[in-house]
Amino acid sequence: MDKTAEPDNREPEKRTPRWANAAALAVLLSVAAAALVYLDIPYPVGFGPRQPIPFSHRVHVQVKRVSCFMCHTEAARSSRAGIPPLQTCLLCHARIIRSYPYIAQLREQFARNQPVVWQRVNWLPEFVYFNHSMHIQRGFDCGRCHGDVSSMDRVVKARKFEMGFCIQCHRDNKATHDCFACHR
Ligand code: HEC
Ligand code: HEC
Ligand code: HEC
Ligand code: HEC
Ligand code: HEC
Repeated sequence: MDKTAEPDNREPEKRTPRWANAAALAVLLSVAAAALVYLDIPYPVGFGPRQPIPFSHRVHVQVKRVSCFMCHTEAARSSRAGIPPLQTCLLCHARIIRSYPYIAQLREQFARNQPVVWQRVNWLPEFVYFNHSMHIQRGFDCGRCHGDVSSMDRVVKARKFEMGFCIQCHRDNKATHDCFACHR
């Protein structure tokens, strides 16, 4: 071996590939995120509010293929999409995983006529009028405004409903700009 070989040997050490650092960081971050989820520590981004019963849209919509309209029955015909009453849950859970603690709690609350108080996720100020049925009947997907709910364990507010967001789509679709359509 001659002397010139020495620096060549050290070279790979000095040049730690940048992607290796990035990959290590990514692994660390995902381990940390997984730990947070596993320990059920409230996590500041990407999760909506904790609900009294840990209802998962992902499980119901993505895994079990339940339609949005089975639970949000009013979306296509009234201004509100509506939150399902416990009766809707019991259509299935009178039989499915009956003894799972949260389902037992659900049945108990139903028997006592005590509704579950779900935390609200999306809202508009009082002075804005919105109507689901008009948008659904025009064929807009729920995801246009709510994001991919089918992949969420806890529903998160996908976007802020700023006036510009509404107006932009109205403009693109030649719908009304009349102030009094939304402020009545
Ligand atoms: C099996 C019943 C069920 C199905 C199916 C279902 N949801 Fe829900 N949804 C609920 C319940 C219960 C809540 C209230 C608790 C929560 O926020 O997780 C809710 C809450 C929501 C909210 C938040 C409401 C708020 O407070 O602003 C949105 C948005 C929503 N659902 C959209 C959808 C969409 C879109 C689909 C279909 C992809 C869907 N849901 C399917 C039961 C259901
Ligand atoms: C169309 C049938 C159907 C309806 C309606 C339904 N569920 Fe479920 N639910 C299921 C099935 C199927 C599972 C998965 C059971 C399993 O894992 O074996 C499930 C699982 C669950 C679980 C277990 C934890 C989880 O998320 O995996 C909870 C809690 C739950 N449902 C709550 C509710 C609530 C609250 C409602 C009413 C808003 C509801 N379900 C309405 C079919 C339904
Ligand atoms: C054009 C936008 C838009 C589309 C499309 C849309 N939503 Fe909404 N949704 C909203 C807004 C805005 C609110 C808040 C309404 C308020 O506070 O008055 C809301 C609120 C809700 C709520 C809370 C309860 C309620 O009725 O206010 C649920 C549940 C919901 N949406 C489900 C759905 C489902 C399911 C679909 C598809 C079938 C859907 N949304 C499609 C904009 C939309
Ligand atoms: C994805 C596109 C889209 C978004 C986003 C959207 N809209 Fe619309 N909206 C429409 C279209 C298209 C119509 C016309 C529906 C029809 O007349 O068939 C409409 C109609 C309406 C109407 C009825 C107007 C009338 O003629 O009386 C109201 C009210 C309304 N939207 C409010 C809102 C509000 C408030 C928001 C924001 C929170 C919003 N929209 C977001 C597309 C959208
Ligand atoms: C398609 C629905 C829509 C139309 C049309 C509309 N607005 Fe709005 N407007 C909204 C929404 C949604 C908000 C709430 C924004 C928020 O909470 O950040 C809002 C908020 C406002 C506010 C409160 C200040 C602010 O920016 O938050 C004023 C003032 C206002 N609008 C005036 C008007 C005037 C004037 C017109 C007619 C030129 C008009 N709006 C037309 C949906 C609409």
